[in-house]
Amino acid sequence: MLRHRRGAVGQAPVWHGRGRPTRAPAPEPVHHRTVLDAVLAVPPPVTIRPERPDDRADRDAVRAVHLAAFSTAAEADLVDALRAMGEIDPRRSILAEVEGEVVGHCLLTATTLERPDGSRVVGPVVALGPIAVLPAWQHRHVGSKLMLAALERCELDGAAAVVLVGSPTYYLRFGFEWARDLGLLPPGHWPHDVWLAHLLPAWTAADVGVVHYARPFLDMR
Ligand SMILES: CC(C)(COP(=O)(O)OP(=O)(O)OC[C@H]1O[C@@H](n2cnc3c(N)ncnc32)[C@H](O)[C@@H]1OP(=O)(O)O)[C@@H](O)C(=O)NCCC(=O)NCCS
Repeated sequence: MLRHRRGAVGQAPVWHGRGRPTRAPAPEPVHHRTVLDAVLAVPPPVTIRPERPDDRADRDAVRAVHLAAFSTAAEADLVDALRAMGEIDPRRSILAEVEGEVVGHCLLTATTLERPDGSRVVGPVVALGPIAVLPAWQHRHVGSKLMLAALERCELDGAAAVVLVGSPTYYLRFGFEWARDLGLLPPGHWPHDVWLAHLLPAWTAADVGVVHYARPFLDMR
């Protein structure tokens, strides 16, 4: 018997029957905007909003989320270092709130793309991360909601691609692919498996090359 279970957000159906399926499950290309409303409707009711400019409470809450979610202060310090360098656009610092409490955060920052002809352009490729959800709120779709809102933000901004370093197990479901296969190279010898990119509608064949992150990211490694 064939049983199709809808996979995680954006994934094609997964076959769970015995033996061979009579036909391969057809991949369903799902655009992140298509699923955003559906995911936002899944409880708990999460408000996704940008960070308020110059708001101390938001900044403290963002730091608290990263301190709680990661085993070291590296990510919280990274956010603060980027902030001190003026690299954070509050519209691209995305918070998840439940009943007034900030429970998650996702940061988007500009990168510099070094094209094969040596020219450098800031902006078409956006770095996603760090992303974190308070442990008590993990596995309740908050991270997915942040991811989809972040991709939406990048698309609305006219970005060409979003890159990140992370587990393919988690990120492929959002339409990420191995970045090197798309012509986007990391600034160092980063492992193939975890260097991921998501192309957006504004992407053109010119949007390839080496992706340079803001300095604090490199200081972390
Ligand atoms: C990664 C993270 C942001 C996901 O947020 P979340 O709200 O738990 O995510 P969702 O509920 O939308 O999705 C949960 C699913 O993601 C997957 N997942 C979560 N974290 C994962 C990880 N580190 N690696 C692989 N898959 C992961 C699991 O399949 C999980 O499914 P399950 O609930 O059936 O176990 C959150 O787990 C977190 O803050 N982790 C610690 C910080 C971190 O590792 N951030 C990412 C690196 S920058």
